[in-house]
Amino acid sequence: MVSFKSFIAFYGLTLLPALVTSSPIASGYFARKLFSRDNINASTVAAELGPQLSNGSLIFGSNNPQYANATSRWNRFVRSDVQVVVEPAAERDIAKIIKYCNENSFEFLVRNRGHGITSSLSAFSGIQINVEKLQDITLQPDGKTAVLQAGTSGGQVIQELWNQGYVTTTGSTQCVGVLGPALGGGHGRYNGLYGLVTDNIVHYNVVLANGTEIGVNETSHSDLLWALQGAGHNFAAVTSIVKKIYPKEIDTWHFHNYTWTQDKLETVFETLNTFHKSYNGTTPPKMGVNFGAIRMDKSLSADEALLKWGFYYAGPAVEAEELLKPFNAIGAVEENMIDLSYPDVAALTSGDCASGNLAVSSVLTLEYNVTAERALYDHYITNVAKYPDLAATAYLWYEGYATAGYQAISPESTAYPHREENHIMFFATVVPDGSDLHDAAKTWAKESSDIWNAGQPGRQPKLYVNYAMGYDFETLESIYGYEAWRLERLRSLKAAYDPENRFRFFVPIVSNSTS
Ligand SMILES: *[C@@H]1O[C@H](CO)[C@@H](O)[C@H](O)[C@H]1NC(C)=O
Ligand SMILES: *[C@@H]1O[C@H](CO)[C@@H](O)[C@H](O)[C@H]1NC(C)=O
Ligand SMILES: *[C@@H]1O[C@H](CO)[C@@H](O)[C@H](O)[C@H]1NC(C)=O
Ligand SMILES: *[C@@H]1O[C@H](CO)[C@@H](O)[C@H](O)[C@H]1NC(C)=O
Ligand SMILES: *[C@@H]1O[C@H](CO)[C@@H](O)[C@H](O)[C@H]1NC(C)=O
Ligand SMILES: *[C@@H]1O[C@H](CO)[C@@H](O)[C@H](O)[C@H]1NC(C)=O
Ligand SMILES: *[C@@H]1O[C@H](CO)[C@@H](O)[C@H](O)[C@H]1NC(C)=O
Ligand SMILES: *[C@@H]1O[C@H](CO)[C@@H](O)[C@H](O)[C@H]1NC(C)=O
Repeated sequence: MVSFKSFIAFYGLTLLPALVTSSPIASGYFARKLFSRDNINASTVAAELGPQLSNGSLIFGSNNPQYANATSRWNRFVRSDVQVVVEPAAERDIAKIIKYCNENSFEFLVRNRGHGITSSLSAFSGIQINVEKLQDITLQPDGKTAVLQAGTSGGQVIQELWNQGYVTTTGSTQCVGVLGPALGGGHGRYNGLYGLVTDNIVHYNVVLANGTEIGVNETSHSDLLWALQGAGHNFAAVTSIVKKIYPKEIDTWHFHNYTWTQDKLETVFETLNTFHKSYNGTTPPKMGVNFGAIRMDKSLSADEALLKWGFYYAGPAVEAEELLKPFNAIGAVEENMIDLSYPDVAALTSGDCASGNLAVSSVLTLEYNVTAERALYDHYITNVAKYPDLAATAYLWYEGYATAGYQAISPESTAYPHREENHIMFFATVVPDGSDLHDAAKTWAKESSDIWNAGQPGRQPKLYVNYAMGYDFETLESIYGYEAWRLERLRSLKAAYDPENRFRFFVPIVSNSTS
């Protein structure tokens, strides 16, 4: 997810402890104790679980100064009821925590950097397992893979590998964890050359719902490997991964951004459509991504929105500028360019880490429909006038990744279902604290995705799981794929690996607990 620096500054949530919701007696390993454990608190968990965990692990509740930070979320509308936070200091602790939760009928939820945006996370009540202490990044002697622990973030991995002469796929925003996006596929600047984040993971060390630790790869639980590659949040807690890395052959990335006035809208989208087919029918693979936004910028215009586009090219300016000639010819009111190392170019979007009360609605598409884009522009301007409090942060967002890397991979081979799609778009706004405009923001978001989808008649609406918000209009098929065999396969793997539906708080395949 990428958004704007104008997002209101980081602010920790203070959540009140609440009671564990009682559930009927479950079968199998998730058996409730005969006495009530409803008044779960950090002192009890520390006394019972603490001695089993490695030195350096932390267990705390809402009265701890670290609690606000440990439970805060990028989307502040996500309000899980975190009764106790457990921060394991070693991978092996995760299985112990999950077994302890199972023995005591506590729900658990793994959190890394807190960028999950979907409302289903708000249904959680129980013990949150924060994996941020698990930050080891270890290059393997063959120089082809690295072991990344579950708590690593995109920024750490990019910088550490760079220091050692390598690169790999991560999400685009540095402060986001590696695993969160990866479990849903994971789009990023290296899509064009190396594929999705998940396409480069060759082995997962995970803990299953029943607390069993297993290794998952092509020869061990390969059925689960398929599910982890696109629907992974539903299946297991990852403790570490083995991920492909590549020697850094590209010294600098070229970044060029433009601001265009709205009268150029048709030209911009037509040029983008041509550009995205210009390399044997696809986007030039080294033009990692272009991020675009349509938004207000009062410093440039009081009543018209502007088109702001940034292009990221994995190589020198001279190569990039050859490809960008058609964009240079449009005529920008403002533009900048710079050549930077990969960690520095990745840092250009670090302003996207500030949290806010988000309303988002997203779509995937093959190409831009110029008529629909004009309709969206008009719809945007109408709503800007109607809702000044939302207008300050509202924007239409475009992610035009290079696709060659992930489209070279057979769509059936992973649970990530939407490989044929070329662009991700979303509408987003931040609802100010205390404002009653949440419904208006959701409606604006929903109508935006409707207009985008009306621009691809005859196609079914699709969206990227990591950008799902939990709205009623997001169907499981639109997220996990319309081919009937996909959901059938996911459900049958769910029955095999998580029969009690313990992993159900991030875009759940099975929505209600079966217990
Ligand atoms: C935690 O729960 C235990 C068991 O119910 C109780 O005895 C104890 O007073 C509680 N501690 C706090 C700090 O609330
Ligand atoms: C944990 O740390 C304490 C003090 O630092 C030490 O005495 C103890 O042996 C350690 N325990 C383990 C299991 O390493
Ligand atoms: C809050 O948590 C983040 C990791 O999510 C960490 O980098 C940061 O230092 C923490 N801030 C405070 C004030 O503890
Ligand atoms: C696959 O996972 C199994 C179980 O963890 C492990 O023994 C084996 O070495 C792994 N194979 C590869 C190629 O990583
Ligand atoms: C372009 O990026 C630079 C950072 O390199 C930034 O300062 C500037 O505001 C951006 N301009 C536009 C038009 O987006
Ligand atoms: C298109 O593909 C062909 C064969 O795969 C290759 O020879 C050619 O260089 C490619 N064209 C471009 C513009 O990369
Ligand atoms: C473009 O979108 C409009 C609706 O905005 C639709 O009527 C038209 O059929 C679309 N064109 C294509 C080629 O899909
Ligand atoms: C844990 O679950 C896995 C997958 O369902 C199963 O194969 C294994 O036997 C279970 N282990 C225990 C101890 O129940």
